[in-house]
Amino acid sequence: MRIFEYENINEMSFETAKTVFNFYDYYIRKQGYFSLVLAGGNTPKLLYQILASEYNLKINWNDVYIFFGDERYVDKENEYSNYKMAFETLISKIDIPPKNIFRIRTEIEPIEKCVEDYENQILKFFEKKDKDVSFDLILLGMGNDGHVASIFPDIEISNNKYIDYVIPKNANPLVPRITFTYNTINNSKNVVFLISGKEKIKVLNEVFRGKEYPVGNIKPCENLIYFISK
Ligand code: 6PG
Repeated sequence: MRIFEYENINEMSFETAKTVFNFYDYYIRKQGYFSLVLAGGNTPKLLYQILASEYNLKINWNDVYIFFGDERYVDKENEYSNYKMAFETLISKIDIPPKNIFRIRTEIEPIEKCVEDYENQILKFFEKKDKDVSFDLILLGMGNDGHVASIFPDIEISNNKYIDYVIPKNANPLVPRITFTYNTINNSKNVVFLISGKEKIKVLNEVFRGKEYPVGNIKPCENLIYFISK
């Protein structure tokens, strides 16, 4: 586990972008492609804008496969959509083949079918690569309540599926969610957290002192890196 602390979200986002690029470079050399899982919420927006500008021409997006660690069960045009945020800050600005984007298709009803669809998209991708389900890099944020992706402190999450759905009791926005499970996150190779703000830093310190929060259960196979800013 490594922790990097910065004065502000700008510095943090530029340093995180460097790390994302280094992982890209490493896996392209190693296997010819890079599977990247995006985080939702607000904190990663600047990182995505930096990847779409400073690193746009340094990355061959034909070899990058983009997934989503969680999604709000709303239309993809809805202001709360993580896909919409990622599309506006990154995907619409880079030359990536649409087939390389694995979106959580929230238009599929009911929510159980949407979960199934996303699980199938993931299984098919790794089958084609003849690999077990293990993402190269997962980006994660954290809520003030210590939730990660859409794994909330007070809600059971499946421990035998790759994807699950939750109906949070208190979340912002208060909408149903589709999320990676702990299995899928912890079977990944690397996790990079982007955590900004005093409230969240307090929670993280409680976790490091042993208090139970979802964020404390994240243990990927290779690297766990926290980028933190005040
Ligand atoms: C979501 C996210 C969630 C997010 C945290 C932090 O869909 O809400 O994936 O896990 O990372 O809630 O959100 P902020 O970055 O907006 O504080």
